[in-house]
Amino acid sequence: MERLQKVIANSGITSRRKAEELIVSGKVKVNGIVVKTLGTQVKSSDSIEVNGIEISREEKVYYLLNKPREVITSVSDDKGRKTVIDLIDDDKRIYPVGRLDYDTTGALLITNDGELANLLMHPKNEIDKCYVAKIEGLLTPKEMMILKNGTIIDGIKTRKARIKIRKIDKESNTSIVEVTIHEGKNHQVKKMFESVGHLVLKLKRERIAFLDLTGLKSGEYRKLNHKEVTTLYSLVQKQ
Ligand code: URA
Repeated sequence: MERLQKVIANSGITSRRKAEELIVSGKVKVNGIVVKTLGTQVKSSDSIEVNGIEISREEKVYYLLNKPREVITSVSDDKGRKTVIDLIDDDKRIYPVGRLDYDTTGALLITNDGELANLLMHPKNEIDKCYVAKIEGLLTPKEMMILKNGTIIDGIKTRKARIKIRKIDKESNTSIVEVTIHEGKNHQVKKMFESVGHLVLKLKRERIAFLDLTGLKSGEYRKLNHKEVTTLYSLVQKQ
């Protein structure tokens, strides 16, 4: 048995708080009967409707993919490009947690657990996303400070970031820089470097929280084990 608001949030249609509002306002039916009591316990065989639409109660699955280049981070593509979902052999309604650009590679979580996906993406939960960028030029100490303390992209200041130079190649005038952030704004890492005058030539996400790409070649994926899922939940529910 599980609490009704948790089951609704788990289905991915909304947050737990919004699920509570929906219940209280009479928008939720269990086996065809309106239920307004928060904390009502439901069985896995119970049918739950929200605003007249039955929610999905599939078994939750969690994958870590090493995303290759030229694959789109979406469940479908109107231009017919290959999606990250095409790479996973699973018929459930799974979707990516956040986005990696078409030309960005690396760690991507894919799941049908909407609640965990939302929690992992929310910057307040401070989940590390660690990227390695090959950039044009060499970063000055001043540029590093700006990136660390927050730079303006699309008119909004980014939150604090960890920046570490891994390698400098004076001959090709490029650098390899490690960037760890908690946000996931559109093209965030590329725009952060652009804001201080450096073009990103290559970008890879090496790690999400404690999940790195060990054992996964480009295009390969694996299921997270129970302990890894529990640890992810503990990271986002610590407050
Ligand atoms: N930042 C970017 O610029 N691109 C990505 O794909 C991910 C983070």
